[in-house]
Amino acid sequence: MGLTPAELAVGNAHPEQHSLSDSKKQGGAESWRMLKRSLHYFMQYKARLAVAVVGMLVVAPCAAASAWLVKKAVDDVLINKDIVALKFVTIAIVVLMTLKGVFRFLQNYYMNTAGLLAINDLRNELFAKIVYLPMDYFNESQVGMLMSRVLNDVGLIRSSLPSMIMLTREFFSVLGLAFYVFYLDWQLAFWGTLVLPAALYPFIYYSKRMRKLARRAQGHVSDVSVRLQEGLSGIRIIKGFAKEKAEIDRFLDENTKLVASNNKQILASEQSSRVMETVGSFAAGLVLWYGGSRVIAGDLTTGALMSFLTALIMLYEPIKRMNAANIDIQMALTGAERVFEIMDKADDIAERGGSVKFDEPFRELAFKDLRFTYNNSGRPALDGINLQVKAGERIAIVGSSGSGKTTLANMVPRFFDPQGGAILLNDRPLADYTLNSLRRSMGLVSQDAFLFNATVRENIAYGSEGAYSQEEVEAAAKAAYAHEFILELPDGYDTLVGERGVKLSGGQKQRLTIARAIMKNPSLLILDEATSALDTESERIVQLALENLMQDRTSIVIAHRLSTILTANLIVVMSEGRIVDQGKHAKLLERCEIYRTLYEMQFGAAS
Ligand SMILES: Nc1ncnc2c1ncn2[C@@H]1O[C@H](COP(=O)(O)OP(=O)(O)O)[C@@H](O)[C@H]1O
Ligand SMILES: [Mg+2]
Repeated sequence: MGLTPAELAVGNAHPEQHSLSDSKKQGGAESWRMLKRSLHYFMQYKARLAVAVVGMLVVAPCAAASAWLVKKAVDDVLINKDIVALKFVTIAIVVLMTLKGVFRFLQNYYMNTAGLLAINDLRNELFAKIVYLPMDYFNESQVGMLMSRVLNDVGLIRSSLPSMIMLTREFFSVLGLAFYVFYLDWQLAFWGTLVLPAALYPFIYYSKRMRKLARRAQGHVSDVSVRLQEGLSGIRIIKGFAKEKAEIDRFLDENTKLVASNNKQILASEQSSRVMETVGSFAAGLVLWYGGSRVIAGDLTTGALMSFLTALIMLYEPIKRMNAANIDIQMALTGAERVFEIMDKADDIAERGGSVKFDEPFRELAFKDLRFTYNNSGRPALDGINLQVKAGERIAIVGSSGSGKTTLANMVPRFFDPQGGAILLNDRPLADYTLNSLRRSMGLVSQDAFLFNATVRENIAYGSEGAYSQEEVEAAAKAAYAHEFILELPDGYDTLVGERGVKLSGGQKQRLTIARAIMKNPSLLILDEATSALDTESERIVQLALENLMQDRTSIVIAHRLSTILTANLIVVMSEGRIVDQGKHAKLLERCEIYRTLYEMQFGAAS
């Protein structure tokens, strides 16, 4: 309500804390738990996965079969010159390759689409959790960081299951080929697989390294996203201060860090692949040396050796692919770590209301010794507030900037909860009511008028659940003095406004948010300097709209204009988080020093 993304981003410019993820050393059990949690999202698409696995089961033994065909081709066709064998081998190769093609297609297509659907679900779930995070989380954390988690980190998880299946498939290929080479010639096979254990160490070493690098890189992706978010939402300031060059440099800095860590990732990935290859070449060398000397001695056929070498080369191919799959799994784990961190946090601290539905008429709102300190500041923002607001009253709150007025207003819809004391609505603590019914009963209009990317009608009816009529929307617009200018827009009530729509003036935007509040029809109204961002001319008409909104409603008005204050039943003067005095204008002017100063500085001449 009222908070724009730009406002959320302000003060959140600190790059993401890498320490959080970096220092968290995940054990094997933890990784496995996270992997299982990621896989859960794929399991919703069992049919696709089943087809993909069938495809895989057919593709896997094809490698061993083609190694066997090489032996047939060399020994029977080339050496024995057997025409029947030639026909057989030719047809077999065509059939085998076609089969492999069809089933590999099934495997890849269904596996990849299952992956897409899985991350689609995951992304939706993550957003659904993020919007229920409490307001103070949006103040502290960074919108850019959250965006990066939804957009980038979720995407990494996509390769988790496909890579695991690939790993399994290649494992069976290796097993099949290994079985074949031992069957072919166990002595040769011994030399060929002698170096295999040597591949194990780099495999484990590079797994760890890739995981660490991926974590770091995703942190940097997030930092770039934070910079981008800040740069775009603060673009007016950047241009106004002619700081484009400095911002470009800051962006470039973050990007350089990202590229550097991506660079290390590529390096590690290439190194691990080349190490695997080198190990493979040692194996091939050993076989060639031992097998070759046996062919020369005459106790091994040329075909057998070639078939063996083919199988051996094929054997290292899946090992290399297992290595690649492993790297993808490490990346996916990194993404999962970062995504589930937010999800769990969201589950822990999600806003929770009580069970009482607020559907009775508003009688009284009472602040009892209310205390609140923002968690990143030492000084209390509210320090023992006692105040009663009775049905039908208009309470004006005045005070210098920083005295705690906005904080007080934000406590009423429970954007923040009291740390001491209580706020009672009809004699019950706010926390007893369901958040939905509580927030529906109140309207908050603040100085920054936020419109969604939607039509004028949709913006006005934003608070309506279910159907609404054009008459209702128009009535609200008329009461907010917005109807006339809406009709002059290119498509009237169907005109798109917001970021991508028609640009409106500040006063016009504010009148639309007032129409929105009128249509919501809240029993309690909170106005937080609703006209302070406007020029005098538009302020006047917005003020008229506000009067219509406040008609027959209880309202708490944070005011900076004398006219608003004079119509209030009670004026409350705040200073440094406390209420220093309350009463009517004339009395306060007489006895309250702070009020007098405020009056002279703010309201005096201007009104
Ligand atoms: N999100 C926040 N985090 C930390 N401190 C805040 C935050 N918002 C306001 N404050 C501090 O709380 C105090 C009261 O602020 P605020 O309620 O906005 O005052 P007012 O609306 O009267 O100008 C100020 O000292 C301000 O610096
Ligand atoms: Mg304020």
